[in-house]
Amino acid sequence: MQVKKLAVLISGGGSNLQALIDAIESGEISAKIEMVISNREKAYGLTRAEQNNIPTYYLGIKNYPDSDERAQALNALLASHHIDYVVLAGYLSILKSETIRQYEGRIVNIHPSLIPKYCGEGFYGHHVHEAVLANGESESGATTHFVDEGVDTGKIIYQERVPVLADDTAETLSERVLTVEHQLIVQTVRDLCSGSI
Ligand code: GRF
Repeated sequence: MQVKKLAVLISGGGSNLQALIDAIESGEISAKIEMVISNREKAYGLTRAEQNNIPTYYLGIKNYPDSDERAQALNALLASHHIDYVVLAGYLSILKSETIRQYEGRIVNIHPSLIPKYCGEGFYGHHVHEAVLANGESESGATTHFVDEGVDTGKIIYQERVPVLADDTAETLSERVLTVEHQLIVQTVRDLCSGSI
């Protein structure tokens, strides 16, 4: 079977990207990360990609101030490399409908909560964990889902729970959630590429 070609989109540290790089390296995932695209020029995830000889691209406000032109550039980049699946791994920008339509059922996202809780507009990064703590939740977790034209509304693929501890801070909770994110994103991309989801 042809090895699937992935584009991974990031905005930050890229620990989820690193989990994918490691899983491909170990043979757990049968795929090739053809490119890493960031909307943040200084995202450390770009460094992780460079360290692993993965082509990187910055598509952001500095080189594409107009969001429609940025979306066109993204679509052209994905098409030119015959990308099979798009993985949003800590990507903090909203994809335009054209991109989502072009990759219907082939874009997945990782979110650091148990969707449908604590997701949608404004719920990203530490905001999620702060809201979970503020509401006195006894558990949280991570979710992978297909991306549709809503924000964090696509069909859920996998979820994994973690306990919220009495002395948790947003930082300690985010670290516990991130651990299961790494497991889920690998499981999701592995099963996507093998055709079992
Ligand atoms: C993670 O919490 C992820 O769920 C969210 O972005 C955060 C940073 O992830 N979407 P990473 O270390 O950049 O992969």
